[in-house]
Amino acid sequence: MSKKKLGIGLIGTGFMGKAHAFAYRSALAAFPDIPTPELRMVADVNAEGAAKAAQQYGFASSTGNWRDIIANPDIDVVSITTPNTFHKEMTLAAIAAGKHVHCEKPLSPTLADSEEMVKAAEAKKVITQVGFNYIKNPMLKLAREMIAAGELGEITGFRGIHAEDYMHDPEGLYTWRLDPVGGPGVVADLGSHIICMARFLLGKITHVNADIETIVKSRPKAVGSKERVPVLVDDIARLMVRFEGGFGGTLEANWVKTGRKMQLAFEVHGSKGSLYFTQERLNELQFYKAGGDGRTAGFTTIEAGPQHPPYGGFIVAAGHQLGFNDLKTIEMAEFLRGIAHGKAEGPDFREAYEIQKVVEAALASSRQAASRVTI
Ligand SMILES: NC(=O)c1ccc[n+]([C@@H]2O[C@H](COP(=O)([O-])OP(=O)(O)OC[C@H]3O[C@@H](n4cnc5c(N)ncnc54)[C@H](O)[C@@H]3O)[C@@H](O)[C@H]2O)c1
Repeated sequence: MSKKKLGIGLIGTGFMGKAHAFAYRSALAAFPDIPTPELRMVADVNAEGAAKAAQQYGFASSTGNWRDIIANPDIDVVSITTPNTFHKEMTLAAIAAGKHVHCEKPLSPTLADSEEMVKAAEAKKVITQVGFNYIKNPMLKLAREMIAAGELGEITGFRGIHAEDYMHDPEGLYTWRLDPVGGPGVVADLGSHIICMARFLLGKITHVNADIETIVKSRPKAVGSKERVPVLVDDIARLMVRFEGGFGGTLEANWVKTGRKMQLAFEVHGSKGSLYFTQERLNELQFYKAGGDGRTAGFTTIEAGPQHPPYGGFIVAAGHQLGFNDLKTIEMAEFLRGIAHGKAEGPDFREAYEIQKVVEAALASSRQAASRVTI
């Protein structure tokens, strides 16, 4: 019989560490069927930060050494929310200790590393999950159902974008996100989300043609420092893709798009209709139905409510709106339910590996650039 309680160990207490802690704390309230997550230990390289996080988020203990989490027999599940460079080492150690692993996206700096992580997890039969929280939105589930049910007819194209502006300032510091040891730049950081979304809605991407560029060529090493570090990773990635279904599309990942804070958006078009979504208005899905009275034709706004599961687990009334942390809560609940049932609900390591294949294909295509026609 599966455990009714699962001991949680969290590594990293930054942006995502906090989101994971929120999600584990709220999951049972929204999803009474899942095993009870018990917050047992939190680790951060900054031991003081870990101690503060333990107190604030309700973990029983804290440590400055993540290996204490791996060695703790009361921990069943490890959440890894550190910079990408550490994902593989931490994951492999957790898997070797027989723990289920949630790892933030992108799974690892390279496809080869991801493959090693997938193989280790599958060999040890542990349940895995990767932090592609945005597809946990009930509006995304609805979009997928509508597409699968043929409500848009024959699909003719997809246009996806994930744009933010947190790297647009050339005086912004050189951080771990720009260190090539952690993998490519925006194509993996934000690109992985829109690739995941495209695959979630429409299936496999089979071909990629990409143009990838670095806009800000160097950044200050530290606050007040005149020393600048050259930037070797990408700021913008533009991909032309083909899907297994026979239609094409475009994907853009961009972290220098001034003014955009969370433009994770898509349009999908079909012979009978279209859908439009943006994470900036995550409780809405726009639906256009072809045919009918031309005078009143237009996009209709479908507003999230309890009729779109699992919205009702959070709020009984329509229109009151879910937020980012709720998507993370859905993700964690599905992960814990997957552990209870012995089957991942995903996206698991294998799916993250497939997403990374698209990232690496885009990088390879951009390097070739041979198919570009000079005008
Ligand atoms: N799913 C999402 O929407 C989403 C959003 C942001 C970031 N992420 C991913 O989450 C991961 C972390 O990003 P973040 O924005 O939270 O970063 P962050 O810089 O805010 O936090 C990273 C944390 O890891 C800690 N850390 C670093 N090295 C460590 C080590 N060796 N041992 C223990 N702790 C260590 C840092 O002290 C910090 O607390 C990245 O892989 C990133 O791509 C995912």
